Amino acid sequence: MIRKGLLTLGSLILIVLIGGATFVASRQHLTFDVPYPDVTASTDSTVIERGRYLVRDAAPCAGCHGDPAQEASYAAGADVPLSGGFVFDIPPGKFYAHNITSDDETGLGKVSDKAIGRALRYGVGYDGRALLPFMEMQGLADDDVVAVVSYLRTLPPTRKAVPPHEFSLLGRVLMATALAKPIGPAATPPARAPRSPSIETGRYLVESVAICRACHTQRDNRTGELVGPHLGGAAGLTETDDPAHSWSAPNITSDPETGKLAQWTEDQFVLRFKQGRILDGSPMPWPGLSKLTEDDLRSMYRYLRSVPPVKNDVGPPLVMVKP
Ligand code: HEC
Ligand code: HEC
Repeated sequence: MIRKGLLTLGSLILIVLIGGATFVASRQHLTFDVPYPDVTASTDSTVIERGRYLVRDAAPCAGCHGDPAQEASYAAGADVPLSGGFVFDIPPGKFYAHNITSDDETGLGKVSDKAIGRALRYGVGYDGRALLPFMEMQGLADDDVVAVVSYLRTLPPTRKAVPPHEFSLLGRVLMATALAKPIGPAATPPARAPRSPSIETGRYLVESVAICRACHTQRDNRTGELVGPHLGGAAGLTETDDPAHSWSAPNITSDPETGKLAQWTEDQFVLRFKQGRILDGSPMPWPGLSKLTEDDLRSMYRYLRSVPPVKNDVGPPLVMVKP
């Protein structure tokens, strides 16, 4: 009787496991029919220049899509080819940043302006897949999406095939469940990006363009979900080229004891950004951020001062995790 019961339980578990595996397998290649935004690349030099500023300086595109072999030139401030290949080796799998130069075979050469716009705005790839949630720029204003696409069109082609992603079991389960739908904008993005020095411009830059929370808010290291207080700092950021160290991104709220912003005046903040990277190997996209206009830096400071302060000490920026 007991043995029979156990046998039934065993078969039940097996059925659930097979069912689960089939469910996961059946949901690995879902596609989404999301409408294309109205994006047409412009050849106007002012629009392209704005796109260059966004892609190279304000948004961290080059930090992920830049050629990893040219990391030293990128750190020194050069506009390296955005030919992709950087690998995120994380629990859900090994994921490669794409080649976004204009190469026909390995880059965006044959991808339409609207499809690039849709990837940025609605998180749907040109093949209809829900993109992995690495690019949190869905809030880019309509005119800035056009500017970004216009600039990408000017990049000379670099022929370089990037390996396909490799999903771990956890990654496959996540793709079938939590990540099975594309991520669009949280609120309707503005038609025109705010530009004048103001808290509003700062909010736009911090939250929709530079995505400071990507590092300065604590994540769950397995799923990538943001779990800590907004901009309250994050420990345990790992860099794949240096597994011995782990970086912490400080609390950038204005909490008087633990927040970086409380220690700095607006002028000091501007000066610190103009200095760029001080700590060797820091993952913070200093090369671009150090070139932001003074107005934009002042706007960012004013917005950050308006963020609710949180008490959270994440320790020193660089810690040794393995001897
Ligand atoms: C944190 C890293 C990261 C940043 C920052 C980033 N990307 Fe990506 N990007 C990726 C990864 C990883 C993929 C591959 C995603 C996938 O296949 O699901 C990708 C894919 C793409 C694609 C291809 C989408 C498709 O249809 O397959 C485009 C276009 C793109 N990125 C443009 C940009 C631009 C422009 C920026 C800056 C505004 C940017 N990315 C910033 C990591 C990043
Ligand atoms: C890719 C991860 C990443 C992103 C994105 C990022 N940071 Fe950081 N940030 C770090 C890390 C790691 C440190 C600590 C190492 C260092 O100081 O370079 C840091 C340090 C800082 C510091 C302290 C610098 C000092 O001298 O003590 C400030 C202020 C800061 N970041 C603000 C920002 C702002 C504002 C943004 C968005 C515009 C941003 N960061 C985007 C990772 C990041």
